[in-house]
Amino acid sequence: MNTALPCAAASERNKEPILEQLRRFLPADADVLEIASGTGQHVAHFAAALPGTSWQPTDYEFDNLIPIATRCDQSGLRNVHDPLQLDVHATPWPVPDHFDALVCINMIHIAPWSATPALFAGAKQVLREDGPKLIVLYGPYREGGRHTSPSNEQFDASLKSRNPNWGVRDLDEVGAEAAAQGFRRIALERLPANNLLLVFAG
Ligand SMILES: C[S@@+](CC[C@H](N)C(=O)[O-])C[C@H]1O[C@@H](n2cnc3c(N)ncnc32)[C@H](O)[C@@H]1O
Repeated sequence: MNTALPCAAASERNKEPILEQLRRFLPADADVLEIASGTGQHVAHFAAALPGTSWQPTDYEFDNLIPIATRCDQSGLRNVHDPLQLDVHATPWPVPDHFDALVCINMIHIAPWSATPALFAGAKQVLREDGPKLIVLYGPYREGGRHTSPSNEQFDASLKSRNPNWGVRDLDEVGAEAAAQGFRRIALERLPANNLLLVFAG
């Protein structure tokens, strides 16, 4: 019998639109590091749909690791490694340095701004030199300093009421941090519910 696992409604809604984009951008045999895997819904969905890829889930919260592993085990996935605890601020990141791509969904607005430069600095260390060096980010963004919808503006206010260091990030400011580590944006896809999927390459 399957164990009841935490399940985020937003992840159920966005996992298929994100997967459609991953099919376009990830090499068929990509070795992928996921940052902030949360419940593991995304990694389980992507690994099942892209059997030639391999995945290393991670999360900041130690308590998330067992549910991630259990979800992937229950799905019979053989292309997902055991999850590791990883805070993007750590130096160095406690993972190998052989990845083709990094995927990070809905993290940078629910963390202090320092997590964004740390994300790109860490990516630079763990994406292999002779690979495509891809970074895929998904979430809400401000554009030109402005919110793109009333719902994103309300979401930003609710984040800041929970923690004043959190908030919807500006696309240009995120791009500047990427550029500082040698990554350039190669795609911007508009996904449902006013979210963007950004792809950077090194
Ligand atoms: C809103 S959840 C998103 C989880 C998952 N990616 C999803 O979309 O369902 C935010 C995640 O960011 C993680 N997180 C927060 N701060 C972090 C940090 N400094 N380093 C790595 N992950 C962090 C949290 O543990 C949490 O799993």
